[in-house]
Amino acid sequence: MSKEIVVSGIRSTGFLHIGNYFGAIRNYIKMQEEYNCYFFVADYHSLTTHPDPASLKPNVYRVLAENIACGLDPEKVALYVQSDIPEIPELYLMLNMMAYKGELEKTASFKEKARANPDNVNAGLLTYPTLMSADILIHKGKYVPVGKDQEQHLEMARNFAQRFNHRYGEMFPEPYPFNFGAELVKIPSLDGKGKMSKSENENATLYLSDSDELIRKKVMKAVSGDAPTEPNSVKPDVIENLFLLMKLVSEDDVIAKFESDYNACTIRYGDMKKQLAEDMVSFIAPIREKTIAIQEDKDNLHKIMKIGKEKARESSVRTLEQARKMMGINFYC
Ligand code: TYM
Repeated sequence: MSKEIVVSGIRSTGFLHIGNYFGAIRNYIKMQEEYNCYFFVADYHSLTTHPDPASLKPNVYRVLAENIACGLDPEKVALYVQSDIPEIPELYLMLNMMAYKGELEKTASFKEKARANPDNVNAGLLTYPTLMSADILIHKGKYVPVGKDQEQHLEMARNFAQRFNHRYGEMFPEPYPFNFGAELVKIPSLDGKGKMSKSENENATLYLSDSDELIRKKVMKAVSGDAPTEPNSVKPDVIENLFLLMKLVSEDDVIAKFESDYNACTIRYGDMKKQLAEDMVSFIAPIREKTIAIQEDKDNLHKIMKIGKEKARESSVRTLEQARKMMGINFYC
């Protein structure tokens, strides 16, 4: 039986962080064993915020290197760069005919970005969800490992797929977000305000490239507040966040100790943060070191990108040919 198809991407807008790891990459690594996987660097998507060309290129190399350092095996998956696949923008154009201005304007990520940068509300930003849908549908992807922030984009991809199928005939499966832990994940920032992010909240985000000292500094500054005064009291959000982070990287008995200290009102947040900082260092340091080594070998990265491109184009060419035919854009046969 042929394997089910998985697609996901990461924008090349900055350094990857533990939100990217636990929201997306952790699933990529597990899925590469059982599924037919396409993972890519979404460099076109990053153009919506007009990055300096001089920084875009190293960002693409670094995202590739960080994915590999986290455990992604380019021999098991197609690991490629979005702009290496010309069929993606062509399908994007077709899907734009299935997408309506009103629904695009209502997308939460569009509204958020338009509010934050009123001088740069470009058409690429508005049609971000159709490009993302093209990324997925070009391989007829069924599962999309992503964090919680991408849920709405996936819902839109299902709508566009359905509309295409309805208008031109059955062609695309409906893609669904995927997480092995069932619920999609949102890794909170250390200051209790929103989520960890590549481009905002730098001091409250733990990057896979942070030095041991910087990790310790950021974790020790995490917002905690007063210790509980009543046994077994409900945890405030910032404390829930600290426990959530601990559950990602610490041993079960360590978590159990701090849970029981919390319930007995004997918890010392300073001690908890110290432990969390050390466990984060143990998690991040090997990824950081591996990334440096991978990034240094440009020839190997180029080789990986080319092989990924070949694998990804194979299915992209096939899908696009079929889409053109169904739409009546096949004049030479
Ligand atoms: P991007 O580059 O913002 O993030 C990459 C992946 O990391 C997840 N993520 C998080 N998960 C949990 N907690 C967080 N704090 C956190 N921050 C980021 C994101 O959900 C994502 O899975 N639009 C996408 C890129 C994209 C894409 C696609 C994804 C382009 N085309 C097709 C899937 C399929 C984005 O901007 O992700």
